Amino acid sequence: MKLLDKIQSNRATLTVMGMGYVGLPLALEFSKVFPKVHGFDPDQIKIKALRQGRSYIRDIPPAAVRQGLIRGFRPVSDAKVLGASDVIVICVPTPLNEYKTPDMAYIRAAMQTVLKQVRKQTLVVLESTTYPGSTDEEVIACLETQKNFKLGRDFYAGFSPERIDPGNQKFMLKNTPKVIGGAEPQSQKLLQALYAKVCDVVVPVSHPRTAEMTKLLENIFRNVNIALINEFALLCNRMDIDVWEVIEAAKTKPYGFMPFYPGPGLGGHCIPLDPFYLSHRAKKFGFITRFIELAGEVNDSMPSFMVTKVTYALNSVSRSVRGSKILVLGVAYKKDVNDARETSARPIMAGLLKKGARVFYADPYIARFSVAGQSLRSVSTRGLNYAGFDLVLVHTHHSGMDYEKLYRSKTLIVDTRNVFKGRKRRGLFRL
Ligand SMILES: NC(=O)c1ccc[n+]([C@@H]2O[C@H](COP(=O)([O-])OP(=O)(O)OC[C@H]3O[C@@H](n4cnc5c(N)ncnc54)[C@H](O)[C@@H]3O)[C@@H](O)[C@H]2O)c1
Repeated sequence: MKLLDKIQSNRATLTVMGMGYVGLPLALEFSKVFPKVHGFDPDQIKIKALRQGRSYIRDIPPAAVRQGLIRGFRPVSDAKVLGASDVIVICVPTPLNEYKTPDMAYIRAAMQTVLKQVRKQTLVVLESTTYPGSTDEEVIACLETQKNFKLGRDFYAGFSPERIDPGNQKFMLKNTPKVIGGAEPQSQKLLQALYAKVCDVVVPVSHPRTAEMTKLLENIFRNVNIALINEFALLCNRMDIDVWEVIEAAKTKPYGFMPFYPGPGLGGHCIPLDPFYLSHRAKKFGFITRFIELAGEVNDSMPSFMVTKVTYALNSVSRSVRGSKILVLGVAYKKDVNDARETSARPIMAGLLKKGARVFYADPYIARFSVAGQSLRSVSTRGLNYAGFDLVLVHTHHSGMDYEKLYRSKTLIVDTRNVFKGRKRRGLFRL
């Protein structure tokens, strides 16, 4: 097959659609092998930044973008490049709408763009996290009905879930096994050849649906286990038991236990949202995913528990939430990333504002943050004067913050991340 030969001999032209957290690192990795890799995104600001060798993702240093540009990485917002591509990889967002059901609009819009440009003998891969059946319904059916292309003869398709873990310095694209699900045998061969170029281990599964479900299992596994430990934390709080100490002890068991940690609530573009892609699709099969619903309920209750904890802490010094000056330390959804999507800091801060608190935040990676219709600017993290606040809520435990200074200050602390592991001082309240 000509296309297989092109991929194997590094002559294929690639376009990655969506230059976000998933698409950009993937395109840069591909550009180490293939001399022509386009990074297509309708967001002109992103494309301009990339063309100037700048990066807007913390894990990707500007030098990596500049090296990519030298190698042949081409950031573009002109969709014509799709017509000259042998491989198209779709990495567009898959959010939920206001009713917590899948919003497939980005995948559909991306496919409309593909349809206008795509030529025969192209491999189209979906990487966006979505429910089982999406590659069949949104990619393959689209090309077959609207272009009259035949799968396995005129085009090839498959699904390969992205497993990127922002902030993880140990496991990157290259050394994280890559699951692939081709829609038919030729597609599978092409996917295998493509991803073997950039990943040490490729894991083939029998169908795109299986690959789609694999990704959901991985994320739902995390979601449900986080909910379990969050529930444990709530109970431990009532029973005056240190949940963190319990986890440390439990994880000494060498088999059959894997530690998960409680927190102020779920965040990010994946773990809080992906389960609802499955529960939505399950309903079509008359199936209720009870674990997902229950986990969602527990995890969603954590931000309001944090507001209660703040109220309790202020009460201990006879203060009310109303009028108190509260600093939220870290608003990113997790440590050392500059991503605040779905962060639990938002409902916590909204809850405190509603109760009349004066709410501030400090995050070295998030300069501006909107909450309850207000656009806030980060307090400078350099020489932060904790004493100027009535209470500091440690929401995200970024590295490099002066937690000792906070500990030494007399300010009330609500520590949601076990930064002050096992330590005790007046006015310190731990989850
Ligand atoms: N961020 C993660 O850690 C992660 C991990 C695994 C999987 N995923 C999944 O990968 C997908 C992408 O996530 P992300 O975090 O990279 O999102 P993102 O928002 O960072 O990036 C998506 C990009 O797609 C662009 N885009 C929107 N419509 C487009 C179109 N029609 N054509 C081309 N580009 C378009 C946007 O401008 C944006 O730059 C989602 O399905 C997500 O669930 C994300």
